[in-house]
Amino acid sequence: MTQALLPLVGLILIIWISTRYITRRRERLADEAFGRHHGCLPAPRLQNQRPFGVDRLEQIFRADAESRLMELFLFHFRQTGSTLEQKFLGTKAYGTIEPANMEAILSTSFKDFGMGPRRDITYPMFGDGIFTQEGAAWKQSRDMLRPQLQHKQYENLELFRPAVDDLIQIIQESKGTVDLQPLFFRLTLDTTTAFLFGESVRSLITPEAVGERTFATSFNTAQQWVTKRFRLLDLYWFINPPEFRQACQDVHKFADQIIDRNLSSNRTESSDSGRYVFLDTVAKRTKDRTALRGQIINLLTAGRDTTACLLSWTFFLLVRHPKVLEKLRAEIASTCVPGSSLSRDVLRNMRYLQNVLRETLRLYPSVPVNTRTTVRTTMLPTGGGPDRKSPVLIPKGSAVAFSVYSMHRRPDLYGMDAELFRPERWDEDMPLQHNPTNAKWGYLPFHGGPRICLGMDFALTEAAYTVVRLLQRFQTIKLPEGEVVELVGVEKQTATLVISITEGCKVDIE
Ligand code: HEM
Repeated sequence: MTQALLPLVGLILIIWISTRYITRRRERLADEAFGRHHGCLPAPRLQNQRPFGVDRLEQIFRADAESRLMELFLFHFRQTGSTLEQKFLGTKAYGTIEPANMEAILSTSFKDFGMGPRRDITYPMFGDGIFTQEGAAWKQSRDMLRPQLQHKQYENLELFRPAVDDLIQIIQESKGTVDLQPLFFRLTLDTTTAFLFGESVRSLITPEAVGERTFATSFNTAQQWVTKRFRLLDLYWFINPPEFRQACQDVHKFADQIIDRNLSSNRTESSDSGRYVFLDTVAKRTKDRTALRGQIINLLTAGRDTTACLLSWTFFLLVRHPKVLEKLRAEIASTCVPGSSLSRDVLRNMRYLQNVLRETLRLYPSVPVNTRTTVRTTMLPTGGGPDRKSPVLIPKGSAVAFSVYSMHRRPDLYGMDAELFRPERWDEDMPLQHNPTNAKWGYLPFHGGPRICLGMDFALTEAAYTVVRLLQRFQTIKLPEGEVVELVGVEKQTATLVISITEGCKVDIE
C-alpha cells in the first residue's frame, strides 16, 4: 500500500516544486522589469565570509553579548555607505540610514512596507495591540489612543507630580551613590499606569506589594527573548525556551492584575472624572480578556521603557558633561523663579532643556533600530549604483532595517563632531538643515509618517518635568568617584527593543 503511494507522493512533490519554481521565476522577471523601468541599481553589498550569511548572525549575537551591537551596525554602514544589501541566513535583506529612504519607508511608500513577522515574533509576550496590528485594527487602536494623548490631559503636570515626589523621597532616603536607571523604569511605569489606566501601581514606593520586581524582571527577560527572535526574522520560531514562556506568563499575570483592579467596581470613578481613561474605552469595545491584555502590554512597553531610557541617558550624559549641567541649572534657576509654577508651556519654552533632551535622543534614540518588510515589490529612492544615488529595487517580502542610532551619528548630517554630546548644536547651522528632506527625515527619535509615536509630547513633557524637579531639589548631582568616563557611544549598551545603559546610571546625589 505504502509502496503504491510513493509514485503519487513523488508526483505531487515534483508538481509543487515546479509550480514554485515557475512562480518565483515569474516574480523575479516582473521585479527585474520594475527595476529597469525605475532605473534601479543594486546597493553596495555587505560582504559575507561564510556561506548563507551565517557570519552575519554570528557577528550580531557576539556583539550583542559584548553589549556593543550599535557599534557593529555603525561599522557596517561606514564600510558600505548609507544604504546596503546583505545576505542574512540565505535571504537578501536591506539596511538604510538615508533620510530620503526613511521618508519612503515611513511615509510616501508607507503602504508598501508592513510589519512583516513582527506580530508572530512578539505575540507570546505582546499579544495584539497597536504596535503589532496593521490595517483596520491598527487604525482603530490609534483612534482609541489619540484622545488620551492630547496634551490637555497632562497640561498642568499634575499627572507626573506624585511619581516624581516618590522618586525624590527614595533618593533622599538612599544617600550617597544611586543608580537612577532602575528608578526611572519604575517612575515611568507609575506614570504610564496612572495615565492610561486611571490609577498608578506606585511601584516606586511599594515595589514588592504590586509585584513590580517580578514584573520588571519578567518584562525584561521576555523582551530580551523577543529581541533574539527578531534577530532571526522568519526563523524566529527556533527560539521559544521555557524561560521565555514563563516570563510571558508573568507579564500577562501583571497585566491581568491591572485589568482586574481598574475595572473592578471598587475603582473610584470620581478620581478620573472628566479624564479620558484609555483602559475604560478599550474595555467597552473589547470584551475579550486576551485582546484587552494585549493592548495593555503594548502600551506599557511604549510608555515605560522608552521614556525611562531617555531619562537615564540624559543623566548619564549630564554627569559626564558638568558644563552642560551647569548651564541647564542656570536656565532652570532663571526660568523657575520662586513663586512661579511649572507647566507644559514653561517647560517647552526652556530652550536649553529642550536642546539637552533633543541631543540625548539624537545620540541615544530609545528605539535605535527597526525593521519593515515589503508587502509588494517597491524601491528605495536612493543608495544604488556606483554613485549610490540610483533607486534600489526591493522585492516583495524583503526585510528592510533602518538604524536611527546610526543615522543620527552621520557627520555629513550633524557635522564632524557628530559623536559628541553638544546640545548647543541645535542652535547652530547644521549640514542637516541644508536640505529639506534631510531636515525632516534625518532626525527621527519618534519616527514619522502615519505610525509616528503617539506619545512624543507626553514623553518629552514627562522627561523635562522630571529633570527640572530633580535639579531643583538636589544641588549636587555628579559622577561618583571611580565611575568610568568613556567616549560617547563606547560605553556598554543593552539593546532590547530599546537601548539602555548596561552598567546603569550611577550618580552621587545630595
Ligand atoms: C522618549 C520616549 C519615546 C520614544 C523615543 C518613542 C519612540 C517611538 C517610536 C520610534 C515609535 C515607532 C515604532 C514603530 O513604528 O515601529 C513609537 C510608537 C509609539 N509610541 Fe512612542 N516613544 C516614546 C514614548 C512614548 C510614550 C510615553 C507613549 C505613550 C504613553 C508612546 C506611545 C506610542 C505608541 C502608541 C506608538 C505606536 C504608534 C503606531 O504604531 O501607530 N510612546 N514610539
